[in-house]
Amino acid sequence: MRNKARVAILISGTGSNMAALLYASRAPDSPYEVVLVTGDNPDAPGLVLADAEGVPVARFPAPTKATRPDFFAALDRALHEAEADTVALAGFMRILPADFVGAWSGKLLNIHPSLLPKYKGLDTHARALEAGDNHGGCSVHLVTPEVDAGEVLGQVPVAILPGDTPDTLADRVKIAEHQLYPRILAGYVSRYQDAAWIEAQVDALTSRLPEVTRKTSHGSPGWQVGGEKSGKLFAILADRHHGEDAIGLLVKASGPDEMTGLIEAQPEAYYWPKYYGASGWLGVKLNRRDLDWSQVADWLERSWRASAPARLTKLMRAADEF
Ligand code: GAR
Repeated sequence: MRNKARVAILISGTGSNMAALLYASRAPDSPYEVVLVTGDNPDAPGLVLADAEGVPVARFPAPTKATRPDFFAALDRALHEAEADTVALAGFMRILPADFVGAWSGKLLNIHPSLLPKYKGLDTHARALEAGDNHGGCSVHLVTPEVDAGEVLGQVPVAILPGDTPDTLADRVKIAEHQLYPRILAGYVSRYQDAAWIEAQVDALTSRLPEVTRKTSHGSPGWQVGGEKSGKLFAILADRHHGEDAIGLLVKASGPDEMTGLIEAQPEAYYWPKYYGASGWLGVKLNRRDLDWSQVADWLERSWRASAPARLTKLMRAADEF
């Protein structure tokens, strides 16, 4: 597994947020590295800085209405060639097409100079001043097809001073932006190590299965199927138990042969959990940057089927036949 997240940064102009992200990434313990700086303006000053700092830069002719689809196709190719796993928009002043956003869903972040949901779009500082707000600020959010509307990951309010103009306020908000963006990006690319975040993902996947309730197993979060009393555990979250380095999802495989086969073939993905392995539980490693959550969903469903009472699996089988 790669050690650090691979971040591409898209800019249109000065690139001061790009610089903040880049210099933060130079700390030895940064969880991300900047693998590409690019954008929609080949003359953006930020690209000159990225060049000088030895970061790979891609320059594309500024798109026109006619060349917009080609531009985004070329951009998508460049991101894949750089093997970027996360894309940070930093003053990228162009609306992304919905298919591009869809393809990079969950991997696209943006910084916006207001306290969202206030003042989406442009002229945010002028609008905050005009409204008589006592604070402006900035937000880092996930990008969704609707502009500036994705989940907010972090914000910093910035006091408005008497006599502020949009420019003086923008200068101070930028100081806050330069603190906020590297911190939020670092946290976001590290969330795959966070037991609480992992538990929430598993919880969301199990809630799609019938008759599931939470049940603690020896102090670990677990999920059971069937009635409160007669129910059977089908998944357990083992957070680095007994010195193991995995945050593992314990699920029911078909037996020891399948378990040893999987563990030998894919030791990065599976392990034999201490104590639990002997009772037929397979460990699926969840704290992996490149984890495919759809495979986790498949394991949960399989384990659910192996544990659910016949009255429920019968219904599932009938549904499968349609
Ligand atoms: C930043 O203030 C950023 O929040 C804003 O553009 C500026 C770019 O400055 N972004 C938007 O308005 C996005 N809608 P920079 O090039 O110096 O980072």
